[in-house]
Amino acid sequence: MVYVADDKRYEMMTYRRCGKSGLKLPAISLGLWHNFGGIDKYENGRAMVRRAFDLGITHFDLANNYGPPAGSAEETFGRILRDDFMPYRDEMIISTKAGYYMWPGPYGEWGSKKYLVSSLDQSLTRMGLDYVDIYYHHRPDPDTPLEETMAALDLLVRQGKALYVGISNYSPEMALEASRILKSLGTPCLIHQPQYSMMARQPEQGLLQILEEEGIGSIAFSPLNKGILTDRYLNGIAPDSRAAGPSVFLNQGEITEEVIAKVSRLNDMAAKRGQKLSQMALAWTLRGGKVTSALIGASKVSQIEDAAAAINNLSFTDEELAQIDRILA
Ligand SMILES: NC(=O)c1ccc[n+]([C@@H]2O[C@H](COP(=O)([O-])OP(=O)(O)OC[C@H]3O[C@@H](n4cnc5c(N)ncnc54)[C@H](OP(=O)(O)O)[C@@H]3O)[C@@H](O)[C@H]2O)c1
Repeated sequence: MVYVADDKRYEMMTYRRCGKSGLKLPAISLGLWHNFGGIDKYENGRAMVRRAFDLGITHFDLANNYGPPAGSAEETFGRILRDDFMPYRDEMIISTKAGYYMWPGPYGEWGSKKYLVSSLDQSLTRMGLDYVDIYYHHRPDPDTPLEETMAALDLLVRQGKALYVGISNYSPEMALEASRILKSLGTPCLIHQPQYSMMARQPEQGLLQILEEEGIGSIAFSPLNKGILTDRYLNGIAPDSRAAGPSVFLNQGEITEEVIAKVSRLNDMAAKRGQKLSQMALAWTLRGGKVTSALIGASKVSQIEDAAAAINNLSFTDEELAQIDRILA
């Protein structure tokens, strides 16, 4: 059936300015790291992207290596774009990244100009796009001069293959240096993508401060801590959950009794706020406006609906914040 987007989609979501740029991102963005690979059901991924867009989620995040197999999430997304979204391309912010291992030999990972330029060409081919909205360097490279990596991002913007550039998993010090180099090249860093959630608070140790000072936006990946900050594991490990599945990025060993005891207390708190735990976790990440967008993953349409509704209550009392800190201490 031909997809026609919901007329009310822009009434469902709020949009936040990304740093000091002209670009606004939805408070909730959808990442395609899991559940969009060649091993996954195409119609489920397609339904999730359709529902997300209908809820005002305009931003979709990919990387060269998402799958499995690596590259297949971009192929799936390209198919969804061709099937449903060609009339809506100008309403979408599509990002991809390069940094992790993608192909054999010395040019298939890290941060050389050779790798970043070749990888974006491959990503554009897989998605059937002329350009991406945001191109990220996915992880810092200890060996390539940062000047070369940033010059590659600047080059790709000048070639029209990316509109904006970003960095991911960079320390505060490297983010600051990258920002200074990019500013000197005339292509300011739009955004940083760190892991950030109630259970992963590293960005509070200087990164968020530097991003604010530099006018760089931020998008928090794994804001649900890969599913742990939801009701998913409260009653054991469901067979269709990420922890039970083939992903090597969440193993059952992480879901200890101690973790679940804390999650259970957070779940009670969320209920008192009239939210699901997943919604409280997203609201927490977005509280105070320091983070531009929360970048969720999903395995089913209902999870995207849960996430979109999180924006209905983003405020916390000081006592609630202190209680969360005590529970997770
Ligand atoms: N830059 C980087 O290095 C990097 C690294 C990791 C991720 N990312 C980006 O961040 C995105 C999100 O990462 P993530 O998938 O780990 O994020 P997440 O939002 O922390 O976890 C998503 C998972 O939580 C579960 N879930 C979501 N909503 C739920 C709900 N309402 N109720 C119960 N369970 C729920 C689902 O797992 P089940 O499968 O169990 O249903 C879902 O796949 C990725 O797609 C990618 O774009 C970037």
